Amino acid sequence: MVRPRVWALSAVTLTVVAALPANAPEHGAWGKRQYAPPVDRAQAVIDTFRLSWEGYYQYAFPNDELHPVTNTYGNSRNGWGASAADALSTALVMGQKDIVNQIIAYIPTIDWSVTSSTVSLFETTIRYLGGMLSGYDFLSGPLAHLADDPAHVTALLTQSINLANNMSYAFNTPSGVPYNLLDFTSGGVRPEPNGLATVGTLILEWTRLSDLSGDPSYAALVARAEAYLLSPSPASAEPFPGLPGMNIDPTTGEFLDAYGGWIGGADSFYEYLLKTYMYSPSRFASLRDRWELAADSTITFLASQPLTRPDLTFAAMYNGTQVFRTSEHLACFDGGNFILGGQTLGSQRYIDFGLRLVDGCRATYAATATSIGPEVFGWDAARVPADQMAFFARNGFYILSPGYQLRPEVIESYYYAYRATGDAKYREWAWEAFVAINATTRVGSGYSTINDVNVPGGGGFADMMESFWFAEVLKYSYLIQVDDDAPWQVARDGNNTWVWNTEAHPMRVAGA
Ligand SMILES: *[C@@H]1O[C@H](CO)[C@@H](O)[C@H](O)[C@H]1NC(C)=O
Ligand SMILES: *[C@@H]1O[C@H](CO)[C@@H](O)[C@H](O)[C@H]1NC(C)=O
Ligand SMILES: *[C@@H]1O[C@H](CO)[C@@H](O)[C@H](O)[C@H]1NC(C)=O
Ligand SMILES: *[C@@H]1O[C@H](CO)[C@@H](O)[C@H](O)[C@H]1NC(C)=O
Repeated sequence: MVRPRVWALSAVTLTVVAALPANAPEHGAWGKRQYAPPVDRAQAVIDTFRLSWEGYYQYAFPNDELHPVTNTYGNSRNGWGASAADALSTALVMGQKDIVNQIIAYIPTIDWSVTSSTVSLFETTIRYLGGMLSGYDFLSGPLAHLADDPAHVTALLTQSINLANNMSYAFNTPSGVPYNLLDFTSGGVRPEPNGLATVGTLILEWTRLSDLSGDPSYAALVARAEAYLLSPSPASAEPFPGLPGMNIDPTTGEFLDAYGGWIGGADSFYEYLLKTYMYSPSRFASLRDRWELAADSTITFLASQPLTRPDLTFAAMYNGTQVFRTSEHLACFDGGNFILGGQTLGSQRYIDFGLRLVDGCRATYAATATSIGPEVFGWDAARVPADQMAFFARNGFYILSPGYQLRPEVIESYYYAYRATGDAKYREWAWEAFVAINATTRVGSGYSTINDVNVPGGGGFADMMESFWFAEVLKYSYLIQVDDDAPWQVARDGNNTWVWNTEAHPMRVAGA
């Protein structure tokens, strides 16, 4: 789901902002289905997954991603086969045995020590490490029958250990807060500030790795780094209780700003406070407390209704002294995270607020020519672009960046809303979004980022099929249509035996 931007891009967002003339149905409803079991829908998502995989396998495997327009490939994630790692857990939950075995036969052949580009500790953790750990949990557990060769299952864990060992020198800083960007050729780091999300979205995977491997050192590394996020310093870096800034100095562990929100660069830090608590409530009660603090401050200080559409709620961002009415597709995971928090902690208030955020993000899809929401949007009545006055009056927001990069967050939040409420409208919304994305982004040998969601047809293709298309968009689109209680589905009652990392790779909770 959630994909933090690197910290430098967050500064770009800030510039953009500054430059701008700045009911939950009851659980009981679950049994009363209003729609026939949508078997054909689930199969339609599988068909799209297979078409995407076949394009990738023919023209790009084992490189990172398919360029579907030109039938070529890219290696934006170090050339270790990011789409294969990201597709594994989706192929598993969809029961696509042939693809599962293509992937797990390949993974033992990866040499993590060899890459020609800079390694992102964060991206490598959420995609490769998360994908392999999820594959290991599934194939050593409920989906063991999908693996042809047990040695390939063991190798998922061995390769996870190898990968973490190759990256662990990132934590070798005076504070223990890691550097994010690593040069494996020289063994060096890029000595620049790390981000709230890029530091705070490691703890789930590295703790799981310790629990599976029996080696506590991985969990110890991330616990030491996380401590700086739980007690931000200086005090001015936490403008609202539980909502800190974004850039952190690995030499001191000190925050360098007070800019943030549930936006790219910060987002999955909040997500992992909750999910790491869910992973092991006995070990991570302090993370739950910080999640509640952040959630309460968000409701109190960041919830915002557009002047022209007071029925909608968005979550604003801040720079330490001021709140900005700007948000992003990336931030639309927030509704789902509030719902999951409400279920986990037994709080209807968080669920209700989450459902309002889901409605707001839905509005960004409903308003455009393609029925897909934009990358960045705003709702500050004083800063509406002149050519979007009518659009703002009608829809309650205006578009600041019009592309769509095959992101999952809106469908992700529909999935959580559906699992929590059983209200079939969320499944309908997810289907509408899937049909629109499937129709608009389809090109050449796969699916691609588009340039403009508010132009019929999407305004052209950027020739990029992101690996998270496999991991996230297609998994959420599928599972929301599969009305079952497989143990990895998010629980209807808040009692989860699996927890999903930010790339939508499900892992077993500790002791489950
Ligand atoms: C926050 O933004 C406002 C408006 O652009 C600006 O005046 C203020 O200096 C900013 N504060 C910080 C701490 O950057
Ligand atoms: C890095 O990973 C490779 C396997 O891809 C492994 O052979 C090597 O031992 C790892 N390096 C370290 C320092 O663990
Ligand atoms: C998805 O796109 C494919 C390829 O264009 C098409 O064959 C299929 O019918 C579409 N599925 C849905 C549900 O619209
Ligand atoms: C939660 O799920 C586990 C595993 O299915 C089960 O043993 C336990 O009783 C459940 N707890 C509650 C409160 O439902």
